[in-house]
Amino acid sequence: MSKVRVAVIGTGFVGRVHVENIRRQTDAEIVAIADQNDELAASFGGALGIARATGDYRELLADASIDAVHICTPNHTHFPIARDAISAGKHVICEKPLAMTSQEAAALVDLAREKGVVNATSYNLRFYPNAAQMRRMVATGEVGEVLAIQGTYSQDWLFYDTDYNWRLEPEVGGVSRAMADIGSHWCDLAEHVTGRRIQAVCAELATFHPVRKKPKRAIETYAGKMLKPEDYEDRPISTEDFGAILLRFDGRMRGALTINQVAAGRKNRLLMEVYGTKRGLAWDGERPNELWIGRRDGNNELLVKDPSLLEAEARSFADLPGGHAEGYADTFKQFFRRFYAACRDRSRASEIPGFDAGLRQLRLVEAVLRSSAEGGWVEPE
Ligand SMILES: NC(=O)c1ccc[n+]([C@@H]2O[C@H](COP(=O)([O-])OP(=O)(O)OC[C@H]3O[C@@H](n4cnc5c(N)ncnc54)[C@H](O)[C@@H]3O)[C@@H](O)[C@H]2O)c1
Repeated sequence: MSKVRVAVIGTGFVGRVHVENIRRQTDAEIVAIADQNDELAASFGGALGIARATGDYRELLADASIDAVHICTPNHTHFPIARDAISAGKHVICEKPLAMTSQEAAALVDLAREKGVVNATSYNLRFYPNAAQMRRMVATGEVGEVLAIQGTYSQDWLFYDTDYNWRLEPEVGGVSRAMADIGSHWCDLAEHVTGRRIQAVCAELATFHPVRKKPKRAIETYAGKMLKPEDYEDRPISTEDFGAILLRFDGRMRGALTINQVAAGRKNRLLMEVYGTKRGLAWDGERPNELWIGRRDGNNELLVKDPSLLEAEARSFADLPGGHAEGYADTFKQFFRRFYAACRDRSRASEIPGFDAGLRQLRLVEAVLRSSAEGGWVEPE
């Protein structure tokens, strides 16, 4: 069969990751890119050797030879671009959060179903080999009944009041920041690994920098460390730097999560600990090749990723032998492989987080915001 022809919209930090990992697929090829103007698109296209580059993504949607698009633009553009792409009959991978509100996300779920296109929200953490291993160890009963899940998603790239990015602006990033940006990754992974649903949340969010200094000129994500005082202007901030969230799952399972974007020294630390009636599991996204397995009555283990040691169903998430680390970029390779398999065989769509996963997370984000504003437990819709 011919390769799936793909366009990437948005060529910043994660757009590059998408392009590079489309190129690692055998059954898909990158044929075009779009950014918000011709110059940005052309400079990225030149650097990465993509001949077709445009400042108007609609040109690509109008091209019947393009089968699929990856949406890698800031959050406020996800809904209109995804809506236009689905309406044009394209298969769509959209970066998280899927939209600005759960209402928008629900409309995308319905539209994708109506048009019969393959759809995915980029919850790429599911595709780490050790994330698949944890999920399998819970599913087989090796962990026992899961009683508690706890952890954090902590970063420091917004530590100073001079750290600035479009994610801080609610009209671009959404009314939630830390929860929508990173907490949703943790919650998606928690539900994926345990197979259990969060029934209610009790949250307190905090904004430690109520005013930040915005650079007077545009900068790319993570690239704002070299500006001088005269390069900034004050901007009030309403989105959260931090959150503490209690989680009530079905049955007697309980959980607790902190999210923090001002945690000095934590670059991108996702820590997840799962405690069952037989074993404990702990996984740190900054050391993704290691999985701690805890026992009350025996030695604890450190499983170092090795396909021969993983559960059979988790093995296909690792392409390299033991001792050869697989990391962040590889999760996108694994994700896209399954997405393009689903484009050929719809029965494989269950292997990827669909738009329904994006909708689920927006409902949780909204429940967290409501809980923090009103106090007490809130059930997601
Ligand atoms: N899954 C992950 O691990 C992960 C990691 C980073 C970012 N993301 C998500 O990816 C998205 C992009 O984040 P980023 O960090 O790459 O941002 P970025 O600021 O680095 O890049 C965004 C790009 O989109 C372009 N753009 C803006 N508006 C556009 C439009 N209307 N049409 C075309 N291009 C447009 C910008 O010019 C820029 O090149 C966000 O939704 C973010 O939440 C996900």
